[in-house]
Amino acid sequence: MGDGDGGVGRRTFLAAMSGGGAVAGAGAAGAASAVGRDGPARRGGLLGLLGHEDEIRALIARMTVTEKLGQLQQLAWTGATGPGGSQTAAAEEAARKGELGSVLNIIGARNSNALQRIAVEESRLGIPLLFGLDVIHGFWTTFPIPLAQAASFDPEVARVDGEVSAKEARSHGTHWTFAPMMDVTHEPRWGRIAESCGEDPYLTAVFAAAKTRGYQGDDLSAPDRVAACAKHFVAYGGAEGGRDYNTVDVSESRLRNLYLPPFKAALDAGCATVMASFNTLSGIPAHANGHTLTEILKEDWEFEGLVVSDWNGVGELLPHGFAADGAEAGRIALNAGVDMEMVSTHLADHGAELLAAGRIKEDRLDDAVARVLRVKYALGLFAQPYVDESAVVEVPTAAARKAAREAAARSTVLLKNEGGVLPIAAGTAVAVVGPFADSRDMQGTWAGPGGEKFPPVSVLAGIRDAAGRGAKVTYGVGATERADLIVVVVGEGAKLSGEAASRSDLGLPGGQEGLIAAVAATGKPFVVVLLNGRPLTIGNWLESAPAVLEAWHPGIEGGNAIADVLYGKVNPGGKLPASFPRDVGQLPVHYNHENTGRPYDPASPGNTFITGYLDVDRTPQFPFGYGLSYTTFEIGTPRASVARIAAADLRRGETFEVEVPVRNTGDREGDEVVQLYLHDPVATLVQPVRRLRGFERVTLGVGERKTVRFTLGAADIGFWTNAVDGRFVVEPGKIELFAGASSAARERCGVVVE
Ligand code: NOJ
Repeated sequence: MGDGDGGVGRRTFLAAMSGGGAVAGAGAAGAASAVGRDGPARRGGLLGLLGHEDEIRALIARMTVTEKLGQLQQLAWTGATGPGGSQTAAAEEAARKGELGSVLNIIGARNSNALQRIAVEESRLGIPLLFGLDVIHGFWTTFPIPLAQAASFDPEVARVDGEVSAKEARSHGTHWTFAPMMDVTHEPRWGRIAESCGEDPYLTAVFAAAKTRGYQGDDLSAPDRVAACAKHFVAYGGAEGGRDYNTVDVSESRLRNLYLPPFKAALDAGCATVMASFNTLSGIPAHANGHTLTEILKEDWEFEGLVVSDWNGVGELLPHGFAADGAEAGRIALNAGVDMEMVSTHLADHGAELLAAGRIKEDRLDDAVARVLRVKYALGLFAQPYVDESAVVEVPTAAARKAAREAAARSTVLLKNEGGVLPIAAGTAVAVVGPFADSRDMQGTWAGPGGEKFPPVSVLAGIRDAAGRGAKVTYGVGATERADLIVVVVGEGAKLSGEAASRSDLGLPGGQEGLIAAVAATGKPFVVVLLNGRPLTIGNWLESAPAVLEAWHPGIEGGNAIADVLYGKVNPGGKLPASFPRDVGQLPVHYNHENTGRPYDPASPGNTFITGYLDVDRTPQFPFGYGLSYTTFEIGTPRASVARIAAADLRRGETFEVEVPVRNTGDREGDEVVQLYLHDPVATLVQPVRRLRGFERVTLGVGERKTVRFTLGAADIGFWTNAVDGRFVVEPGKIELFAGASSAARERCGVVVE
């Protein structure tokens, strides 16, 4: 890298190229004011992040450069999720010298108090350390993986997970979780889809906000709350080929319409921190990206919290080929907007010389330090740096287990149920087979410390319990002959999804498809229960299976929750948060794609000059939003409260309502997710054929009706253009609205924007 600063933002760069002044972000303000900036005026205003500015200024004034740089350093206590290992000894020494801001992966009240004592009692200024940990879907009590939670279409599931996790984790000394992950992705090959909410920015945004509220509550200093971290900033889910850490080349409009909305939603919900992502973004590594980290996040969105690098993310500017050496990597990352360096130590190692040479500015250094201190103050660490060792949550409580069981059951998606095989009638002789039938490998990727310590209830155990005493439940293939019904439990182990766990084949691994064929050959009715961390290709055997239940990696109470659903105690109501492809060769296949100039036209099926493949259907096996129930529902035509509305009024904040009638037409109580999709058929930027803009999961008794109401405004109707300074437009023209039980919804109405 030459003399130029990698941290330069795109706007500043363009302005310099054109010889003009800075391109004013304010150009977007007119359009964006009603939508893009409708959160709290300053993000940090939430949760008391800005409540200690005088103390912070005074403290910074007393700090040496080395102490300041120390605040920007995070070291790993144990464990590794990348190059480098534990830095325990270095962390203790740095804490003693007052040259450390944070430690990740330290667990346990006593351990964390011991280290904290060194920082607070032995260092010159006694600044407390911030302890971070990946508490992704549970600390002791493992909830279903985030992808599963998204399938519930019930943000309360994510909020409750956040709340339970925060309580358990904070009692063990954790102040800060590296969650929620909110990377929208169209790539089921990408293992990290398991940690995500799937393919839709709106669903992801709703869940990101709910999980943030669950972790943080109203007061970060409470002994049962942790700071959340919106990650990974940004567009990590766009990894080419679904290969982890891979290149992302993204237009400004796609960045803003697809990848950024969940981050904005999380910050509006008060999220205190953000983590940079491993990918490049149109050639600029996210850790070096001043456009995203500074111009958008810190300037446009006025984020006052802290930006942490990912594990060795600053160091990775070297292999990316963006920095020649560590000093350059540190300089570029800080100037781009990274405030804290995880694991690699380039800023701490070279910051003083960079400052002396004028390559980094004291203002920016102080700003980064202030952001770290802000989070520490908000967490109440200056007032109470230690955790109460007598108040540690030792085990998953009964209430936490109950919440995890409900979450897992609400996350299941019934993909098929022919001939009413499910629910299983009382007294049915059941054989449970398959490699995951009595397996503990159902906690999923990123299970917290509880993943090992508190093993989950297996499907077999859950079924035995649900079937009750005297019922015939047998285990193993040899037992199938005597059974009335076979439950085949198959899937992929936790290690096959998550970080650095991309797959090129999305079929069931091992001989599991053969097992399903063998079960089908018995001629007995059977149910396939899937335990997996991503959409799978299931076309090879789907036709042979009378019923299929997608249960994902369901966590600690998985077996009980699955049995609740199989036996009808819970009527499944989840929906797919990501399309299930027919074949890997179709990828990407997702509902929110744009139309080509030659879209498929059902009116002329003979026309072959259309976009698609010769050897596979153009549609997914199951679309986004799809899922069945043991009952049936009818969703009626949506009705908008206005036929026409002025774009100017929308921009000023006016909204309108869309009513959607829904009725339970079956013979038992159940849940339906009423979904509202929007399409702008003619625009100055080609629009997705559908965009989810509202959903509500409702429970209806037999014959019961309800009218679900959605409120739409400029944020729903408009879109971000390709302008680098962020231009959100609401254009005149007709808007189509579709309501239904999946993204294939057909009931429609229209509104004209004038
Ligand atoms: C790398 C992962 O990308 C990130 O999600 C995680 O929080 C860090 N490692 C810390 O473990």
